[in-house]
Amino acid sequence: MQLIDNYNRKHSYLRISVTDRCNLRCFYCLPKDEDIIWKPKNKLLSFEEIEKLSRIFVSLGVDKIRITGGEPLVRNALPQLLKSLGKLKQSGLKTLAMTTNGLLLAKHAHAISQAGVTHLNVSIDSLQRDRFEKITGRDQLSDVLSGVEAAVKCGFPSIKLNVVVIAGVNDDEILDMIEYANGLAQNRSMINVRFIEFMPFVGNGWNIEKVIPYTQILQQIESKYKVTPLKAEPSAVAKDFAVDGYDTSVSFITSMTESFCSTCNRLRLTADGSIKPCLFDSSEISLRDLLRNNTSEEVIIQTILDALKLKPEAHEPAEDLAADYNNRSMIQIGG
Ligand code: GTP
Ligand code: 5AD
Ligand code: SF4
Repeated sequence: MQLIDNYNRKHSYLRISVTDRCNLRCFYCLPKDEDIIWKPKNKLLSFEEIEKLSRIFVSLGVDKIRITGGEPLVRNALPQLLKSLGKLKQSGLKTLAMTTNGLLLAKHAHAISQAGVTHLNVSIDSLQRDRFEKITGRDQLSDVLSGVEAAVKCGFPSIKLNVVVIAGVNDDEILDMIEYANGLAQNRSMINVRFIEFMPFVGNGWNIEKVIPYTQILQQIESKYKVTPLKAEPSAVAKDFAVDGYDTSVSFITSMTESFCSTCNRLRLTADGSIKPCLFDSSEISLRDLLRNNTSEEVIIQTILDALKLKPEAHEPAEDLAADYNNRSMIQIGG
């Protein structure tokens, strides 16, 4: 059995959010002026429940799992979960990945790597201390920088730096980011810097003027570097370019100007146990209560297939997304 939706897209990539909590307060991720109500622990999937569902997803053809949050490293004993998910590599899982804000990475990089995570994406939106604090609400840029350094030392096969580019906020740091990544990359494999177009979620202050289209970012980059397009995997969300003469590649995640829904292979499992077929669509079906009622594996699989049928062909226009009060905020979805 395979995870094929109504538009003939095969799903092989599962993003699992392990917590809705975060130790940063990035304005583009959290709804403004809203009290943050964390889900109580008993509403979140336990590690055993995540492991059970992951095993089922792998049996349905998922070969890549990415752990997200909130911030995944604020969940207690996360490396234990990673270790058991890593064992799914014996049953068809090829890639165990994680996206983190890097704050706790210096402490945990080694354990994460030992547990079998090979692909690490770290968010870093500014290299300037005061600006980092403005964006994230915390004066902790130095922790992220040491986290990234620790990850580089651990030798993860893939390290990507995620930069959400926002007009008037950090769009003057694009070239600095490339120099920073290249400095890190000395004596190791490539580091990839991904410039992400700012996406709308309710209450995150998005408007079209704040989006810098990737073509403009590319133009800025080409004013200093020579870049060559790289061939990407069919379901990749990023357009990749090599920077000639550098140990760094750059990519663009172009959700706003060139969406990539037609090749989407991603499903999401929320921290409270719902399957969410599309980042930008509020449709979800809970698997948590099925698990807790000892529902048979057949019924759980049928429910996953039912959820897949809810996946839209493509996301709505950006302006409509910005006003969608039904969708979760980014902190709860995990990217
Ligand atoms: P790779 O596995 O390295 O390609 O990572 P990824 O891009 O899937 O994951 P990451 O958590 O690093 O997310 C980077 C950016 O891509 C974030 O802004 C995500 O919100 C965005 N992103 C991830 N998946 C999707 C998706 O399915 N649709 C859209 N529109 N954006 C996505
Ligand atoms: N637009 C684009 N990217 C976002 N992320 C979080 N919120 C947004 C947004 N509104 C990114 C984070 C992180 C990844 C999981 O999602 O920067 O790198
Ligand atoms: Fe897939 Fe939805 Fe993202 Fe489009 S918006 S790429 S359908 S998750």
